[in-house]
Amino acid sequence: MSNHKSMPKDKGLDHTLSVLREGYEFILNRSNKYDSNIFETKVLGEKTICLTGKEAAELFYDNAKFMRSGAAPKHVQKTLFGENGVQALDGEEHQHRKAMFMALMTSDALNEIAELTKKHLEAFAAQWETQEKIIVYEEAKKILTHVACEWTGVPLEDEEVDERTNQLADMFESAASIGPEYWKGRRSRNAGEEWMEELIQKVRDGEMNPPSHRALKQFSNHRDLNGELLDKQIVAVELLNLLRPIVAISVYMSFTVLAMIEYPDQVLSLKSGNETDRQNFIQEVRRYYPFFPFAGARVKEDFTWEGYKFEEGTLTLLDLYGTNHHPDLWDDPKKFNPARFESWQGSPFDFIPQGGGEFDFGHRCAGEWLTLDVLKETLSYFVTGLTFEVPEQDLSYRMSEMPSLPKSGVQLSNLVRQKNG
Ligand code: HEM
Repeated sequence: MSNHKSMPKDKGLDHTLSVLREGYEFILNRSNKYDSNIFETKVLGEKTICLTGKEAAELFYDNAKFMRSGAAPKHVQKTLFGENGVQALDGEEHQHRKAMFMALMTSDALNEIAELTKKHLEAFAAQWETQEKIIVYEEAKKILTHVACEWTGVPLEDEEVDERTNQLADMFESAASIGPEYWKGRRSRNAGEEWMEELIQKVRDGEMNPPSHRALKQFSNHRDLNGELLDKQIVAVELLNLLRPIVAISVYMSFTVLAMIEYPDQVLSLKSGNETDRQNFIQEVRRYYPFFPFAGARVKEDFTWEGYKFEEGTLTLLDLYGTNHHPDLWDDPKKFNPARFESWQGSPFDFIPQGGGEFDFGHRCAGEWLTLDVLKETLSYFVTGLTFEVPEQDLSYRMSEMPSLPKSGVQLSNLVRQKNG
């Protein structure tokens, strides 16, 4: 007889369809049903442990217990992540590659991303004044493609903005799709990697010489732990690990504007408020609205946690959305309340929209600070730089769609720039 506790377990053969049907709420629904922060299910034909909550996040980000190698499904690698990128590395190799990303996140570089966001918002807003209405999500993707390319040193001609924007967006829009959408995502990933590989070759051949602090230059010349240049395909994947998620901030930009529409009282206080109020608003946008559903890893070797047995190799999912809505961690979690962040203690394990734990030694999102800077600039611009109206539209979003987005893409009309914005 084992003296391990038995984990609550989903009945039935496989629950992949339920993941697709319930989306962000798949783990939350079951952790409520079993009244447990841990349960076992079967996804893509494989035994899977699901975890939610702060203690579970602390466990999940323990590098001695979990590894990333072999954790991401092929489907996701072929669209969202790419193959052989930082997400799938462990140990020293991961630390070395992650350092390549974190070295870019200097305060100068973060100031620059905020300035670029403002510059491109202003340029687009000049056009918006001449249009009857705009779709925030579509505009945000283009703005961020400009920002991402300029920040990384990737040249972008005016004629290719739409094509490159669509390629970068397809990679994150298609990650949870099946059928034609999925194949579109794969084609866009291939085209995106080809685009990057050509540039990397030019940098290596000396035909192109981007400034030394630009990611294109840094990554092209990066050497692995053996002192070798990285394979061109890997550099392409890692450059896309910057460009693609910067464009994906468009999802949060759309939710930021949606929050302004849904909670106008909060906006009044933002107009007269300070930097902290704006920061709290953005944090609540990232807590409240769905984006990245869960992170995945595999058990490194057998261990026991709170009486439950974890066997080597078992796929384990940490619920990011559910932890951000966990009733033990958040008062009234279904309420949009930026003021809750006034008393947040800053734990790396309870508020995890972009993953938890450490940046340098763990898999926490390399672009979290950058995301905050882009969003703060966006919020400031929409609060003080512009006036607009909100036409009749369907602003609802679905928990079963990943990534989820307001149906209308968030439409605004009669946009007018403010002189003192
Ligand atoms: C758009 C909003 C974003 C969201 C919701 C997001 C979310 C995430 C999540 C959930 C992870 C995985 C955490 C884990 O595996 O434990 C991650 C990893 C990562 N993100 Fe982000 N991210 C965003 C923006 C960015 C940006 C702007 C960048 C780069 C400029 C970026 C670069 C990365 C990289 C390189 C990793 C892999 C880190 C590693 O494996 O060590 N992300 N992100």
